[in-house]
Amino acid sequence: MRPKFIAGNWKMYTTLAAAKELAAAVAKGAPADPNIRVAVCPPSAWLTAVASVLKGTAVSLGGQNCHFEKEGAFTGELSPAMLLEAGCQYVILGHSERRHGFGETDALLNKKTTAALGAGLKVIFCIGELLAEREANQTETVLDRQLTAGLAGLTSEQMANVVLAYEPVWAIGTGKVATPEQAQAAHAFVRGKIRTLFGEKVAQAVLIQYGGSVKPDNAATLLNLPDVDGALVGGASLKADSFLAIVAGAVR
Ligand code: PGA
Repeated sequence: MRPKFIAGNWKMYTTLAAAKELAAAVAKGAPADPNIRVAVCPPSAWLTAVASVLKGTAVSLGGQNCHFEKEGAFTGELSPAMLLEAGCQYVILGHSERRHGFGETDALLNKKTTAALGAGLKVIFCIGELLAEREANQTETVLDRQLTAGLAGLTSEQMANVVLAYEPVWAIGTGKVATPEQAQAAHAFVRGKIRTLFGEKVAQAVLIQYGGSVKPDNAATLLNLPDVDGALVGGASLKADSFLAIVAGAVR
C-alpha cells in the first residue's frame, strides 16, 4: 500500500511570525501515522526559521523552486544544496505558476530535477494541462510531454525520490476542482506513462498527488481514489485547521 503524502505550498504568503506559528500548529496536529506523510513548503526567506520549528517533528520541509547550478552568478536564485542546508528534504519543481508565469520549459525543469536529485533532495514534480488544452482533448498529450521531457535521463533508482503532482492549471486557486472521474483518469494515465518509462515497480511505488482547489470538503473523496496518493495544497494550506482537515481526509 502506498502512503498518502499531503504537502502545503505556501507560495508567496505568510509573514515570518505567521509561518512559524502555522508550522508549529501543523506539526502539533499532524497524525502520528506511518502511512501519512506531511510537508510544508514556505517562502525561501522563512525556510531556516521553519526548519527550527519542525526539528524533531514528523513534518518535512520543502522549497518551492531551485536553480540547476551548484553555485554561481545567478542573482535571486537558490541552489539545491542551499535548500538542503536550510533544512529541506523536498523541492517543488514545475509548478504551473513557474511554467506559465516564469516561462519554465520542460528542458529547464529536466535540468533542475536532475540537479535537485543529484544534490540529495526529493522532488515534487508538477504537471498539468491548461483549460484550453483540456477543452481541445490535449490533456494526455500534455502530460505525456511533460513527463517524457521533464524526467528524461532519470534512472529507476532516482524515481524513488520523485513525487508527481497532477495539477490541472484550471483548478489551481480557482475553486474549480477536477471531478473524481477526471482526477482518477489523469492519475491512471500518469501512472501508465511512468510504467512505460520506468517499469512496473516504479509505477506501483510512485506517489501521485492531486493539486488544484483541494479543500477539507473534497479532500477525502479525492484521496480515496485508487491512483491519488496525496495532495499538493495551496490556499487551504495557509490555515492550520483547513490543512489538518485535509490531512485527516487521508487517514484510512
Ligand atoms: P490551490 O493551489 O490549492 O490554491 O488551488 C494548489 C497549488 O498551486 O499547488
